[in-house]
Amino acid sequence: MRVCALVPNAGSGARMKTALPKQYLALDTKPVFIHTLNILDKAKCINEIILISNEKYIEKSRLLIQKYNIKKVSRIVCGGKTRQESVYRGLMSIKNAPDIILIHDAVRPFITSELIRKSIKTAHKHGAAVIGLPLFDTIKLVKDDCIEKTVDRNNLWRVQTPQVFRYDLIKTAYQRANKNNFSGTDDASLVEQLNHPVRIVPGSETNIKITDQKQFKLLGGNYKCELE
Ligand code: C5P
Repeated sequence: MRVCALVPNAGSGARMKTALPKQYLALDTKPVFIHTLNILDKAKCINEIILISNEKYIEKSRLLIQKYNIKKVSRIVCGGKTRQESVYRGLMSIKNAPDIILIHDAVRPFITSELIRKSIKTAHKHGAAVIGLPLFDTIKLVKDDCIEKTVDRNNLWRVQTPQVFRYDLIKTAYQRANKNNFSGTDDASLVEQLNHPVRIVPGSETNIKITDQKQFKLLGGNYKCELE
């Protein structure tokens, strides 16, 4: 079985409000996206990695990949205006069809090899698998700073990445979404449009998505530090 990881890394990090997009900021001693690539690079079940970057940062990404000796990145693809467009471009750049595509956001640097392995195994068996967690907080529908109603949280899950699919399925889902002008906030929602079941693999609270300065600081990140 051949597995290709697609890593969307082309966001501008508007919520982070830093000059440099958050994926290039220092966490510990390495840029955020290098932590993520390192884990994917070491995962035995991944054969190839395609990084999707903003055109402006392609050269910078290439140099950092070399510096940190990441071996499995076969190419860096230019991203689009939205995450969906970026992933679409990554998918369309593939010439030799792999069996499985694993999509993982560059800004989730705490993913574990165990979750990578489990999600690939489930996708291989069922076609589509996403990492997710059940909701434990009470959920409210809010309008104009007022609660409209309490939502029944039974059966509600929040999903993360990796999101993993058989190659033909995710390619068809992205092509269909493109044709129908459908936009979703994750990859699974495009597969749902094909009425193909998507399995949930229980995830981890530590698989955090880096979002804003406050949270980045709590994680020990230095949002003023750019690594060369
Ligand atoms: O913006 P958000 O945090 O949801 O982005 C999730 C991932 O998608 C990030 O790794 C980001 O770099 C990537 N992304 C992308 N192209 C975009 C927007 C986001 O590759 N146009």
